[in-house]
Amino acid sequence: MEDQTVVLIVGAGPAGLATAACLSRLSVPYIIVEREDCSASLWRNRAYDRLKLHLAKEFCELPHMSYPKDAPTYIPKDQFVKYIDNYIECFNIRPRYHTAIESCSYDECRKCWFSVARDSKTSVVIRYTARFLVVASGENSAENIPVIPGLRGFAGDVIHSSRYKSGATYSGKNVLVVGCGNSGMEIAYDLASHGANTSIVVRSPVHVVTKEIIRLGMTLVQKIPVSVVDDLIVRMSNFIFGDMSRHGIVRPKVGPLLLKAETGRSAVIDVGTVDLIKNGTIQVLGNISKIKGNIVEFEGGKKGAFDAILFATGYKSTANTWLKNGESMLNNDGLPKKQFPNHWKGANGLYCAGLAKRGLAGIAIDAKNIANDILSSYHA
Ligand SMILES: Cc1cc2nc3c(=O)[nH]c(=O)nc-3n(C[C@H](O)[C@H](O)[C@H](O)COP(=O)(O)OP(=O)(O)OC[C@H]3O[C@@H](n4cnc5c(N)ncnc54)[C@H](O)[C@@H]3O)c2cc1C
Ligand SMILES: *[C@@H]1O[C@H](CO)[C@@H](O)[C@H](O)[C@H]1NC(C)=O
Ligand SMILES: *[C@@H]1O[C@H](CO)[C@@H](O)[C@H](O)[C@H]1NC(C)=O
Ligand SMILES: *[C@@H]1O[C@H](CO)[C@@H](O)[C@H](O)[C@H]1NC(C)=O
Repeated sequence: MEDQTVVLIVGAGPAGLATAACLSRLSVPYIIVEREDCSASLWRNRAYDRLKLHLAKEFCELPHMSYPKDAPTYIPKDQFVKYIDNYIECFNIRPRYHTAIESCSYDECRKCWFSVARDSKTSVVIRYTARFLVVASGENSAENIPVIPGLRGFAGDVIHSSRYKSGATYSGKNVLVVGCGNSGMEIAYDLASHGANTSIVVRSPVHVVTKEIIRLGMTLVQKIPVSVVDDLIVRMSNFIFGDMSRHGIVRPKVGPLLLKAETGRSAVIDVGTVDLIKNGTIQVLGNISKIKGNIVEFEGGKKGAFDAILFATGYKSTANTWLKNGESMLNNDGLPKKQFPNHWKGANGLYCAGLAKRGLAGIAIDAKNIANDILSSYHA
C-alpha cells in the first residue's frame, strides 16, 4: 500500500494531535499515524491510577481549546483523556492506529520524506510519501532502566513506573522505588498508603515544592526575572518543608525554574511523601551499588532485602531508531540538538513537537510554530 500526503505526523499523543489541529485550521492536509490502538496511549495505558496533571490547568492546554470552566485546577487523568477525546472530535482528527513507523528517510531527488510503516495487527507494510515530516513520538517512548550490577538476577519483581497502577498488590511487601522525580515520589506515597514497606533511592539533589508554590512561580515568571522568582520559590518551600538534608533530600544549587529551563528536570510537587519520609514511614536510601539475589546493596554499605524494585527512572525517545537523515534536528538520543526555542525545525521539511522537555505548554508552542512554518513553505 502506498499513500501520499503533504504532512506526515508520527505519534498521536498530545503533541501529534495538537499539530494536527493546528494544520487542519490552516487547511493543510496531513496524515497522523499511531503505533498503539488509541490516542494518548501514555495517559490511557501507561499512567498510574492516582495521576493528575502536575501543573495547573492554565499551563496544560493544547492550542485552540480550553478546559471546561468548572474543571478542577489540577485535572485528573480520566478528565484529561476526556479532553483529548473532545479535542480529536472537535478538530475531526482521524489517527491511523496500530500503524508503527519503522523507518523514515529523505529522498533528495523527489524532495520528500519516504516512510515505511507496519500495521501491527496484520503485519501489512504501508508506505507514505510526504513533503513534511513531524516527529511527535514523544520523550516517553521507551522505558529507561539504569544498568545495575546483579539486576538481571534479582529474585523479586522488577517494574517500570509506566506499568504501575496502584499499591494495592504490594501491601505488606518490601518495595524499593528508584528515582525521586514526580512519578517516583508519588508512587512511593501510593505504595506506603497501601501498606507496603516503602524505601526510595534518592541519587541526586532535588527541589521539592508544593503545587500552589509552583503555580505562583510559573505565573510570576511571566513578569519577573527567573532568578527572583526562583529565590522566592526556594524560600517558601524551605519554610514549608524545612531542611530535609538529614532525610537525604538536598536542593540543587540552581533554582527550580531555571533548572527546568536549562536541563528539563522538573521540581517535585509533594503529594504527601515528605511527611511520610519525615516520620520514618518511607526510608530514603542512597544510590544502589549492586544486587545479589533479593539483597540490594547501597553506596555506603547499607543492605536490605526487597520483594520488588520499581524504576521511576524516566523514559527515552526512540525517534533515532527509525528516523534516518534526522541529523539536522536530532542527536543520537533522539532529542533536539538545538536549544529551546530553536529546537523544533530541521532541514528539508523536518519538524519535532513535544521533545523540548516543556510539557503540554511546550507542546502547544511547538504545534503552532510547526503548522505556521509549514503553511508558509507549502504556499511558497
Ligand atoms: C507520568 C507523567 C505525568 C506528566 N504530567 C504532566 C503534566 O502534568 N503537565 C504537563 O504539561 N506535562 C506532563 N507530562 C509530560 C508528558 O510528556 C506530556 O504530558 C505528554 O503526554 C507528551 O506528549 P507527546 O505527544 O509528546 O508524547 P506521548 O504522549 O508519549 O505520545 C507519543 C505517541 O507516539 C507514539 N509513537 C511512538 N513511536 C511511534 C512510531 N514509531 N510509530 C507510530 N507511533 C509512535 C506513541 O505510541 C505515543 O502514543 C507528564 C508525563 C508523564 C510521564
Ligand atoms: C506518619 O504520618 C502519616 C500521615 O500523617 C500517618 O498516617 C502515619 O501513622 C505516621 N507514621 C508514624 C510511624 O508516625
Ligand atoms: C549509581 O550507581 C550506578 C551503578 O549501580 C552507577 O552506574 C551510577 O553512575 C551511580 N549514579 C550516581 C548518581 O551516583
Ligand atoms: C522495611 O524496609 C527497611 C528498609 O529496607 C528495613 O530496614 C526494615 O526492616 C523493613 N521492615 C520490615 C517490617 O520488613
